[in-house]
Amino acid sequence: MTVEKFAKKELLAIMAAYRGAGTRARVGPVEGMINLGAGDPDFNQPEFINKAVYEAMKEGYTHYSFGGDSGFKAAIAKYYKKYGVDIDPNTQILIESGGSQAIFKSFAAILNPGDEILILDPAYQGYRAPAAYFGATMTRANQTKDKSGLFRPDMGNIETAITEKTKAMLICNPDNPCGTVYTEKELAKLAEIAVEKDIVLIADEIYTEFVWGDNKHRAIINMPGMEERTMVLMSFSKTFAWTGCRAGYVIAGPELARLVGMVPTGICSMPVAFQKAGTLALEKGWDFVDEMRTAYKKRIDYIVPRLNEIDGISCPYPEGAFYVFADISELNVPSAKFAMDFFQKEKVRCAPGIGYGANGEGHIRFALVRPVDILKETCDRLERYAKGL
Ligand SMILES: Cc1ncc(COP(=O)(O)O)c(C=O)c1O
Repeated sequence: MTVEKFAKKELLAIMAAYRGAGTRARVGPVEGMINLGAGDPDFNQPEFINKAVYEAMKEGYTHYSFGGDSGFKAAIAKYYKKYGVDIDPNTQILIESGGSQAIFKSFAAILNPGDEILILDPAYQGYRAPAAYFGATMTRANQTKDKSGLFRPDMGNIETAITEKTKAMLICNPDNPCGTVYTEKELAKLAEIAVEKDIVLIADEIYTEFVWGDNKHRAIINMPGMEERTMVLMSFSKTFAWTGCRAGYVIAGPELARLVGMVPTGICSMPVAFQKAGTLALEKGWDFVDEMRTAYKKRIDYIVPRLNEIDGISCPYPEGAFYVFADISELNVPSAKFAMDFFQKEKVRCAPGIGYGANGEGHIRFALVRPVDILKETCDRLERYAKGL
């Protein structure tokens, strides 16, 4: 028997694409390795959150919860109000088991085979497979760099890339991997385009709590004409260093939210006891978030100048999120080869820019998920590696 005979054709195509990709150094633990590849925070959840899970289970929160815990949804609505948005917790929030499920469900709600979904380039890789799974075509609009070297959405490229078949446009704000935080003007223009072209806007806002300097996170769902056409994707993974416990949600206008709620993935998939702990995190977890913010900021302030001191590398300060997306194009090595060789020679894992789209070529991304002393060692190794090229 060959499983191909039975497989959903879109899944076979996704598997084939993964086989061909080979851009990441896929390896297990290696002595002396510094892993700045994945964006998994190096902070552990505070004990009061862990305990809250157990306490909730002891109290009997171990049963079905069909639409998600109402207290948790109320806490989410209260939290998101800090961005000036009034949402009805009963009709506008869907609890998911993380940002990845939020992506899948929002796509599942709207994408038919043959539809186009527009993302920017570079963009987070996790949108590609879900779009392919629903038989949709992912189209891309190149971002262009500002004076500081940060990639920003290019409105001309976006308008050109929208066709009759475009169902939705997806933005990531603050952006992974680029580190951009969208300005009010950029968001207003994107909203205007979405309304004019009559498309859905999906806003991945999972890095909302990590915004640096004078930059400010703004919610596009609050702009004129946007509530009915926006799906905001959120996750606890980065906000509360909750990557393994899986928690996330979608915020949308009531009609879109109803659609997402109809996607038949079963009963709300975030365990009820974790929803109870999530409520507590939203009430009392902010000192912990502050601690992480302070640490990330120190890491950014250390690594950006150090990277810029290395011949052939330039790197802008990110406005948000906790990655640096460094330009290595002067070194004339394709990013996938760079990431693989750097790993083999110096045991540092980073992500090659090509993984984020053709426009990401000539860049590498470091996730700042290790303390400053490890980042110092990373830069020493990078300096040595770059000199040897
Ligand atoms: C932009 C973006 N969206 C979504 C996700 C997925 O989040 P989660 O880990 O909650 O599934 C990630 C994870 O790195 C991400 O960077």
